[in-house]
Amino acid sequence: MISRMKSNVLVASYRSMIATLALLVLSEPTWATGDPARGATTFQACAACHSTTAGEHMTGPSLAKIWARKAGTVEGFQRYSEAMKKASLVWTDQTLDKWLARPEALIPGTSMSFPGLRESKARQDVIAYLKAVSEGKAPATAQRGGGMMMSMQPSKVDLKKAPPEGQVTGIGYCGDTYTVRTADGKVEKVWEFNLRLKTDSGPLGPEPGKPVIVGGGMQGDRAFVVFAAPSEISAFIKPDCGDRK
Ligand code: HEC
Repeated sequence: MISRMKSNVLVASYRSMIATLALLVLSEPTWATGDPARGATTFQACAACHSTTAGEHMTGPSLAKIWARKAGTVEGFQRYSEAMKKASLVWTDQTLDKWLARPEALIPGTSMSFPGLRESKARQDVIAYLKAVSEGKAPATAQRGGGMMMSMQPSKVDLKKAPPEGQVTGIGYCGDTYTVRTADGKVEKVWEFNLRLKTDSGPLGPEPGKPVIVGGGMQGDRAFVVFAAPSEISAFIKPDCGDRK
């Protein structure tokens, strides 16, 4: 009796071993082909929203240690959708492949607004790259560089070290116009609709009370003033109609 039970258990465990082996053999050719170096280049499609530096969260979470992690659990990322928090899956070759093919199909309601990588090869490359990153073996070229060029993320520059032309000493407003004064002595008038006001409370954000203006030519719609906290914004901007009362 006992020995029969034992042999049943044995048979069962052989069966599952064989099943596992079969799976491995079947999946090997499909999953093992990604090239991390090529993946680093493909990752530029992700770098506007994701950093591979641990703890550096942007629109999306840092992907520094995503491998074999439960979805929606990167420490310090505060913007997960409910759908992602509830998704009970672990990031592996297979789940990442589905995710990157069509995020919305794998996790309906996700806030990752990315249509997906249509080419299987491109997905395999990025997956190989993410695995290498998690193992601390990322190809040198892609540690940060790609993202910086593509993304124009102000958070990549240390705003505490802004040059005088970036240090905002005062902002006045009159009607539809902001008057921005900077530490280099310049005064520029900007149409209210062209000036964006942002906050950055992170380690690279500005010193409290010392907002920084970023972005080329204030004539365009790209200039933004970054404050350390939202409460500073309206306190900093003073009514100022100068001579035209
Ligand atoms: C437009 C911005 C954007 C782009 C581009 C983007 N992502 Fe995302 N990604 C996000 C956001 C936002 C989330 C969180 C989604 C949620 O909570 O529903 C996310 C989540 C993820 C996750 C899950 C992370 C976790 O903590 O479980 C992975 C993996 C991922 N992205 C990989 C990629 C890869 C690889 C690319 C490029 C092929 C890419 N993403 C492109 C914004 C983006």
